[in-house]
Amino acid sequence: MNIIISLFIAVGLSYLFSNQIKKYNKYIYIWVATLSMMAIIHAILILNSYSIHYVSVLKWLMKAIDSGAMGGAFFILVMYMGVFDMRMIYARKLRTIRAELSIIACIITIPHNIHYLFAFILNMKNIVSGRDISLWLNLMMFASGIFAIGIMIPLFITSFTLIRKKMNGKAWKNLQEFAYIFYAMIFVQIIMVYLSKPSSLARNLNLIFYILLFSTYTVLKLKIILEKRRNRALVQSR
Ligand code: HEM
Repeated sequence: MNIIISLFIAVGLSYLFSNQIKKYNKYIYIWVATLSMMAIIHAILILNSYSIHYVSVLKWLMKAIDSGAMGGAFFILVMYMGVFDMRMIYARKLRTIRAELSIIACIITIPHNIHYLFAFILNMKNIVSGRDISLWLNLMMFASGIFAIGIMIPLFITSFTLIRKKMNGKAWKNLQEFAYIFYAMIFVQIIMVYLSKPSSLARNLNLIFYILLFSTYTVLKLKIILEKRRNRALVQSR
């Protein structure tokens, strides 16, 4: 369950170092980008069938970045910030660094995207020759992953304050709405990945965990949207 440990790390570090992340954001991006570069080299070596030996913590970290769990954990944190109760101190503390965390999430997801895009293309012949359900699961996983990357790139670029300031406020807000499609695409991609794996306790626990995580978010978000609509209707009727 790499995702659970990654979530603990993402939430813990973001909460404990929120002031430093805000203040030294550029240095943190450089540090995360260096880690991502390491993971890209790791992915290239794996794709070329090299076996790599690391000290244990680094080995786990490379696996967590490569598998998408670390990037996914930061994206899940950013996603949940949209349903946090802003009266709580912890929520306000994290909310101030939402843009920084989404930039970190994008940078740390790049090695995963590069690895599995190339792995898919290199393995395309075998995948397409499959006649069973796994062909469709793989194609849906690929399509949702590509779609997610397509949405992630403009969201990533416009997360930087410099770019954001140059944009019209309404256009920026409209673009941010695409984040919901992005979350849906990540969900589909993950579910397709786990459905295509042979059934095991670990696979089923991961499936249940992701379904609970994304469905809870959807229910909370819908509740907030409905409450906002109800309040607006009340104000207009007065
Ligand atoms: C922004 C884009 C993407 C995000 C945020 C993302 C996120 C994730 C997450 C959270 C996981 C589950 C990790 C875990 O539970 O340990 C995962 C797994 C996986 N993803 Fe992605 N993904 C993206 C794009 C892609 C693309 C484009 C492909 C392939 C074409 C892909 C292929 C895979 C595969 C094969 C796995 C299973 C990895 C493993 O078993 O180690 N992903 N992804």
